[in-house]
This record gives sequence, structure tokens and C-alpha cells, in this order.
Amino acid sequence: MGLLNISSNGDTAKVNKDILLEELNQIVDAQTIERAKYYISRLKKSLTEIKTTKINDLNLNRWKEYQDILTESLWIFDKRDNSGAHNAGYWGNFIPQIPNQFLRRYTKHDEWVLDAFLGSGTTLIECKRLGRNGIGVELLPEVIEIANKNISAEYNKFAIKSLNRN
Ligand SMILES: C[S@@+](CC[C@H](N)C(=O)[O-])C[C@H]1O[C@@H](n2cnc3c(N)ncnc32)[C@H](O)[C@@H]1O
Repeated sequence: MGLLNISSNGDTAKVNKDILLEELNQIVDAQTIERAKYYISRLKKSLTEIKTTKINDLNLNRWKEYQDILTESLWIFDKRDNSGAHNAGYWGNFIPQIPNQFLRRYTKHDEWVLDAFLGSGTTLIECKRLGRNGIGVELLPEVIEIANKNISAEYNKFAIKSLNRN
């Protein structure tokens, strides 16, 4: 989702249509002028300012749009994410949505993540997807091979393309 997607010249901002309509309805339905003004200034802020904290890259001025970030204590996922290099081949792997949630909530782009029990590499695949650097530790050499294969199979959209010097 393009939640941080305010263009560098400040002219355009990508917004979730349903959320924007919800905000506009709130303004229309406001009981007092003061309330309406508050909702308008909140909307203005969400379109012009990015507010992040030290622990992640989530834009708190657009928090309503992160509908896939789970904030309840019980996480329920419809089905396992089997996209890209993810596969449930290794006994004992966990579903990719678990590290995905943690990485987005508790790390920033380009930060380092250590998975001390790498297994088939689920966490490091998610790191690659989200632009985090990952280090994995694994006891069993045969499992390291599986992890290497899986992690290499994942496309890295953040990789710097080598410069053509010709
Ligand atoms: C539950 S699996 C991790 C699965 C992983 N999250 C995944 O999705 O594939 C735990 C892994 O930790 C490894 N392991 C166990 N003891 C370890 C140790 N002392 N040091 C490093 N790895 C260890 C096991 O070989 C196993 O592959």
C-alpha cells in the first residue's frame, strides 16, 4: 500500500478511497463546527505530513489504512501465504504472516534482523521482501541448504542494479 506515498513535490497523495470517504462523511456528519474543523485538519495532516516513530516505518497519520496490520492479541489468518519463495516444505516452519507482522511493526527499512533459528528461511524471505537485512543461524547443514535455496529464490526488489559502465 502506498501509505507513505506523498510525492516529493507534495502535489499528489495516494489515498485509500474507502478511508477517504469515511473521513469526509465524518466531517459532513459532525455535530459542531469545532468537530468538523478538527476532522478537516486531521485529514489535511494525513495528506501532507508523515509521522513515524523510532520503531517502524508506519505512518501514524494514516494508521487507518494499515488494515492488514493486526493489533489484536489473537492473530487469525485465513490461509498461509504461499506466494514467492514461501513454501510449507520444511517441517516446523511457521507461516510467513507471523514474521511479516513483526518486521513491519518493529523494524524499519534497511535495519538488521537476526533469526537465531533460521529453519527454512521464512523470516529472511520476509526481510528480503520488506527491505530489511537478515542474518540467519541454523544448526543443521542440510537445513541451511534448504534455507539458501528458498531465500535465493525470492525476488529482491530493493537490490541495486549493477551499473552498465560500457
Ligand atoms: C522451528 S524451526 C524454525 C523454522 C523457521 N522459522 C521456518 O519458518 O522455517 C527451528 C530451527 O532451529 C534449528 N536449531 C535448533 N537448535 C539450534 C541452535 N542451537 N542453533 C541454531 N539453530 C538451531 C533447528 O534445526 C530448526 O531448523
